[in-house]
Amino acid sequence: MEATPRALSVLTDDGIATFSPEQLRVMRDEFQGFLLQYQFGLREVETKLGILRDEFQLMHDYNPIEHISSRVKSADSLVDKVVRKGVEPTFEGIRTGIMDIAGVRVTTSFTKDAYRLFDLLTQQDDITLREVKDYIATPKGNGYKSLHAIVSVPVFLSSGRVEVPVEVQFRTIAMDFWASLEHKIYYKYAGAVPDGLLAELKDAAESAALLDARMERLHHELHGPHPSPVRAV
Ligand code: GTP
Ligand code: MG
Repeated sequence: MEATPRALSVLTDDGIATFSPEQLRVMRDEFQGFLLQYQFGLREVETKLGILRDEFQLMHDYNPIEHISSRVKSADSLVDKVVRKGVEPTFEGIRTGIMDIAGVRVTTSFTKDAYRLFDLLTQQDDITLREVKDYIATPKGNGYKSLHAIVSVPVFLSSGRVEVPVEVQFRTIAMDFWASLEHKIYYKYAGAVPDGLLAELKDAAESAALLDARMERLHHELHGPHPSPVRAV
């Protein structure tokens, strides 16, 4: 028996396909290169958001961003989505059919900050806004709230400029708290959440929205309309 297989055979719709180790290496490198572009796109958007946060802190003595997190979709969940959405399983098919391979989540202090950051990011002249879903103005039926944007950002590679799509989700801490719990519950019940729990979640989303409004009002009372006036330097 050989320690390393000389070829890999897989069963496809058209019969058995066999790949040599060299072919597998080429496929792996192509796939890694494909995902790397999304990693670069993320970096560009993260840098832009980091600059806005630091500038806000310095100029307005106010930080609208509580937290930024980002991820490139794992290979497994990308494959799941390709199958679920019936996307053509080629790089070109995936590039045009799946827009959230790179994702950034911006957690803000207040609802106003979510919109303000959306504006400040999407108005930048190298950013192209491709799609907006405002689930803050129009929450989903289950109570989910967030402002989603698909943007394209240019990335400069040795081979030239590529436009990389990045999904950016803006939400408050309260919206984020709700969404992460709902996500866990949804997965625990594999999508079949009992009605009673769904109703409680919906109710909790309303409480979260009330808390957001109340905190924003309190903040306003303390500091006036934010950001607070520019500090004398
Ligand atoms: P996807 O196949 O999920 O990308 O569907 P879509 O393209 O219609 O996207 P949509 O903009 O509605 O949602 C994209 C992302 O937002 C999801 O991948 C989640 O991260 C988040 N999201 C959307 N709806 C919900 C929800 O009901 N609950 C939670 N917890 N997150 C949600
Ligand atoms: Mg999506």
